[in-house]
Amino acid sequence: MRLSVVDRAALLDEIEERALAFLLDQARNREYVPVSMLRSRFGLTEKEANVVSDRLFRLRLVSKQLIMGEVSLKPTFSGLDALAVRDLIRRKIVKEVSAVIGEGKESAVYLGYSFNDDPLAIKFLRIGRSSFKNARKLRGLPERVPWIILSTESAKNEFETLDCVKRNYGNVPTPYACSYNAVVMEFIEGQPLQKVTELQEPKKVLDSILATERVAYVECNKAHGDLSEYNVIMRAEEPYVIDWPQAKKDEWLLERDVNNILGFFSKRFGIEEDPSRALSYVKGEA
Ligand SMILES: Nc1ncnc2c1ncn2[C@@H]1O[C@H](COP(=O)(O)OP(=O)(O)OP(=O)(O)O)[C@@H](O)[C@H]1O
Ligand SMILES: [Mg+2]
Repeated sequence: MRLSVVDRAALLDEIEERALAFLLDQARNREYVPVSMLRSRFGLTEKEANVVSDRLFRLRLVSKQLIMGEVSLKPTFSGLDALAVRDLIRRKIVKEVSAVIGEGKESAVYLGYSFNDDPLAIKFLRIGRSSFKNARKLRGLPERVPWIILSTESAKNEFETLDCVKRNYGNVPTPYACSYNAVVMEFIEGQPLQKVTELQEPKKVLDSILATERVAYVECNKAHGDLSEYNVIMRAEEPYVIDWPQAKKDEWLLERDVNNILGFFSKRFGIEEDPSRALSYVKGEA
């Protein structure tokens, strides 16, 4: 049987969790960490260090490589997910992680529950898994930034952007927390705008999406960067803009976002909006 990340996270003991967190801490300095460093860091005997390293490896939370004759470890994406799950449960933000509700190229999204039994969306960023170089180029990051850092920084960026947009009354899911590569937010029950063929007031929906992009740009200094019908969830007639890890201040991205969403509303609902007027509006000029 294949254990889920949550099952594997639950199997970690304290020293294994601390060892995993230590490997992650080292990510900026080195990709693989020799097991001897774990020994000295935690005062373990050779045998104890090997047990920790074997368990982490068998749970597929680290990968192993022989470097200069020494067994060395690096966390996997599952390792990062496991640390995030443990931390979120410990902080009483998440009580339970349930089914996968979305698996994109750069994330996995799970349905979860809070300690009040409210449904949550828990998004684990996995930036750099498939198209390492592309992801970096897109975000304008230097080639040498490791995927662990890319994923944790993207999660932080998504959380902070959601938080700022929400505080300024934009239409986004309420963010609750972030931890390592995970962002926890309000679960929006609905369907992607891409699947919606009929709206009572399509113009109002478009205006609300543009108003959210404007709040992000004017109040938070961020253009969404990937705005499309796939990244808007409709709860009845209310649009919620999701998927903000790549948000940054960039006029070119802002213009592309506006053109994307205007193009969709024109094709699907026959709404014609002047692109330059919409752009001035989201820039806060009109
Ligand atoms: N807050 C939420 N409430 C309900 N469902 C959500 C929520 N956030 C994400 N989802 C679901 O998970 C899917 C993927 O989420 P999201 O768009 O944020 O990441 P992604 O598409 O994997 O990222 P990328 O576009 O880089 O591949 C969404 O299409 C949606 O079905
Ligand atoms: Mg998406």
